[in-house]
Amino acid sequence: MAKNSLKYCCSNCGHTSIRWLGCCPTCNEWNSFIEEKSEEAVSLGAKKGSGRTVSAENLSLYRLNEIESYQKKRMLSGIKEWDTVLGEGIMPGSLLVLTGDPGIGKSTLLLHVAHKLAQDYSVFYFSSEESLEQVKLRAMRIESMNEKLLFSDRANIESIIKTAQEQKPDIIIIDSIQNCFFSETQSFPGTIGQLRETSFALMRLAKEHTIAVIITCHITKDGHMAGPKTLEHMVDGVFYLQGEDRWHTRILRSVKNRFGPLHELGFFSMTEKGLEEVPHINQHLLNETETVPGAMLLSCLEGSRPLLLEVQALVVLTKFSVPQRVITGLDHKRVVLIAAILEKYLHIKFSAHDIFVKISGGIKITESSSDLAIALALLSSYFQQALPEKSMALAEISLTGTLKPINGIETQLKEAQKFGIKTIFVAQGQQTTSSNVVKIKSVYQLLSFFTENSAS
Ligand code: TYD
Ligand code: MG
Repeated sequence: MAKNSLKYCCSNCGHTSIRWLGCCPTCNEWNSFIEEKSEEAVSLGAKKGSGRTVSAENLSLYRLNEIESYQKKRMLSGIKEWDTVLGEGIMPGSLLVLTGDPGIGKSTLLLHVAHKLAQDYSVFYFSSEESLEQVKLRAMRIESMNEKLLFSDRANIESIIKTAQEQKPDIIIIDSIQNCFFSETQSFPGTIGQLRETSFALMRLAKEHTIAVIITCHITKDGHMAGPKTLEHMVDGVFYLQGEDRWHTRILRSVKNRFGPLHELGFFSMTEKGLEEVPHINQHLLNETETVPGAMLLSCLEGSRPLLLEVQALVVLTKFSVPQRVITGLDHKRVVLIAAILEKYLHIKFSAHDIFVKISGGIKITESSSDLAIALALLSSYFQQALPEKSMALAEISLTGTLKPINGIETQLKEAQKFGIKTIFVAQGQQTTSSNVVKIKSVYQLLSFFTENSAS
């Protein structure tokens, strides 16, 4: 036995240490360190059942032009929002993770997808979290009963792999990976050691037998995938299912995809009969907007899709010594910076006001093209005056207060035109063929939108 047979591993990010630590130096999570046998890591996947042996051999090396490659046909489900986010269907032999809060709809989505895929492909669904009775009830509720779809509620990963190796399905679904276990490993299901071993074995299965493997995985309280470092590096794709409860929207987001576009979004709505696609999301989002003080439209490109969103701001005199900044769906620092720029150049005392800003539809954006819309929404709330009806802003603001043009604006402008946006405020230097743009040089011009002396 190795001299130091114990080590400690952060259950959140996988950081290892020979000592127990209260706070993880990598992810700053408290009380996340758990004890692990260090031999486990050394013999990772080398045990019986993982399909690997440790004997050394002299390896053959190849030139790339000697490798036979053929275009693999992707497996399309016909659920367009799902297929698009995955990059036009599932790549055979890929290992994908679907993650999200408990109860958000991961099992429901996968059952819909499995039901559709089972028409053309062989699909095995391993429901390690729920009994087959529960799965049947869900399938009946969402009208996804399918004779071709095969289920099991077993969680032993060696048995799952053996079954898949022998019966060679096209796709296996494991819901969830945290409930699966290697019978030989001492640690509990869901611990970092188990997660690592089970995912590694599934990766070998996917690559060696060209079986697409989709696993579900819970996220921790701060929104990270449990054991993210372990899983994210190993898998071909990571997809988050997120939700905005108000209108039951569920957003499927790709955060890693070796076979498709990044940051692509798919929209669903949770109904009585499961998840329904929302193909015209911009219509949905625009129906919720109003021409009122503090509201401004913007557009951002998420994957290949231009989204039309509303930024809402509320600026009120503060009652605290340090004014509050409550920001949802936008980068906190970006909003603080824009408020500082407006304060500096327009002499508006945002430092004496609380600022609340949010993006409609529960969507999070990081693009700097939202700067001008945020600035206009803040000023609109401050002066308590609405901006022109059906107007939108698309420009970055530099620290000097000058507006900067944005690359590749045409797709967003076309989408805006489609939805009847009349005026689009852009930077002076913006190249565009659109006729309904209004060019602005710097933040000094923004005051002309508002009549003075009506501040809150
Ligand atoms: P589920 O798919 O079990 O979530 P997860 O696998 O991510 O934990 O979804 C459970 C939630 O979805 C539950 O709150 C009930 C709701 N739901 C509906 O509203 N309609 C439906 O048709 C189904 C199946 C679930
Ligand atoms: Mg579930």
